Amino acid sequence: MRVCVIGTGYVGLVTGACLAHIGHDVICVDNNEEKVKLMKSGQSPIFEPGLSEIMQSAIQSGKIEFTTDIAAGVAHGEILFIAVGTPPLPTGESDTRYVEAVARGIGVNLNGGYKVIVNKSTVPIGSGDWVRMIVLDGIAERQKTLVPAGGVLSDEKLPEIAAQFDVVSNPEFLREGSAVYDTFNPDRIVLGGNSQRAIALMQELYAPIVERQYANDKSLPAVPILTTDLSSAEMIKYAANAFLATKISFINEVANICDRVGADVTQVAKGIGLDSRIGNKFLQAGIGWGGSCFPKDVAALIHTADDYGYEAQIMKAAVSVNERQRLIALEKLQQVLKILKGKTVGLLGLTFKPDTDDLRDAPALNLIEQLNRLGAKVKAYDPIVSQTGLRHGLSGVLVETDAERLADGCDALVLVTEWQQFSTLDYVKMAQLMSHPVIIDGRNFLDPETMVRAGFQYVGVGR
Ligand code: NAD
Ligand code: UDX
Repeated sequence: MRVCVIGTGYVGLVTGACLAHIGHDVICVDNNEEKVKLMKSGQSPIFEPGLSEIMQSAIQSGKIEFTTDIAAGVAHGEILFIAVGTPPLPTGESDTRYVEAVARGIGVNLNGGYKVIVNKSTVPIGSGDWVRMIVLDGIAERQKTLVPAGGVLSDEKLPEIAAQFDVVSNPEFLREGSAVYDTFNPDRIVLGGNSQRAIALMQELYAPIVERQYANDKSLPAVPILTTDLSSAEMIKYAANAFLATKISFINEVANICDRVGADVTQVAKGIGLDSRIGNKFLQAGIGWGGSCFPKDVAALIHTADDYGYEAQIMKAAVSVNERQRLIALEKLQQVLKILKGKTVGLLGLTFKPDTDDLRDAPALNLIEQLNRLGAKVKAYDPIVSQTGLRHGLSGVLVETDAERLADGCDALVLVTEWQQFSTLDYVKMAQLMSHPVIIDGRNFLDPETMVRAGFQYVGVGR
């Protein structure tokens, strides 16, 4: 099938590359010229395991192209994905201006032939109908600019074109760091909309994934497809993220109680996770949730509830527990080192989770800011940030090139991100290089006994 993906960030590029990999003809559109240039040369502008490889093979087989020209993308695609960002406004509301610009751009460039316009971006509930309205505005806008005599679009043709597209909500559930894996191995596919024709085309698009042709375990039953109305599909996305974030805040709260009563939250999480009604995932206590989705999506759902006269109390509590949790490493540093002014703290990891280069709303950023405020010097080593020189949003921190240089002269280390390679560092040597060998394990990632044997004072979260 012919697909156009507009917006090639973590979601758009992964979606475009994976759809090309399974045989569709994909054009990816982005208005960032530098990104498009990079992608044309086969390079991924983001770090995501496995992405470069499938991008390059799709380029070689001629299944994917990259352009800044939305008109070309719209002309090509029978399925048009909107996958631009919906960042938070200071009020917590979602900033939908990029979605609006793309929907208008689609309308202005619709060229006849039936199209499915897919909201892949996480958009406020009600956006499906709103996108339809903006696309129609775009069509009308274009009509105004056309010369009536011999014009391409006449008044009579407008309803005809309007009837030639449908909007579908197809929320994305991929996680950064395993985005390609998640795309080929989804737990479910949600399709919201009221057009049978559009839903049928979306089912055809995803058929190879649904049938597990690209799954790691091909013997699994087909991926469930849930078809709903537009608003329910939009709500599913927000509710899923809010639930997961709440689950983490819950275990973090349990960890804080464990710290006080002397229980071990990792054992507790195991014990409750074995109950199939609870499940063992998303029960890792630590320094709080961050990233580009949870904080903004929970805030947006709280805002939507508020708009409709309802106070989302559980979600607000999940946010407030998280805000406190994001300072837990600082509290523990103060308990051990007392005065932080003049001390040097080394951070192991900067990104909001492992296997990504994404620093959006990373807990490390709060920690750096607070340590600076209290007069501590902050250094960091992160496998991706140190290697790529990426520094978006980073200030007040000296980025070291390896973990031993990081440890050199530090009064304490904080493990912020559980990168796999942090399990095999030479901690004996690192402890020797430090002024005070203290480690705050913000992810309960390291084995306390091993760390003590290596010469560290070990402090976990709730253990
Ligand atoms: P991103 O910021 O990484 O990428 C957005 C891309 O859109 C950028 O490359 C930008 O240049 C491009 N863009 C902006 N305006 C454009 C325009 N007018 N025309 C063409 N391109 C334009 O964003 P992301 O993290 O991929 O998120 C995209 C959406 O998907 C958001 O709504 C987000 O909430 C949702 N989502 C993200 C994730 C995730 O893990 N990042 C997971 C699920 C859902
Ligand atoms: C999340 C959702 O999981 C995904 O379905 C959605 O599409 C986008 O948002 P992502 O933000 O990429 O994905 O990563 P995720 O693995 O969910 O982690 C989010 C945050 O929660 C990270 O800061 C992570 O460190 C934290 N986390 C996660 C915990 O603190 N404990 C856990 O048990 C799990």
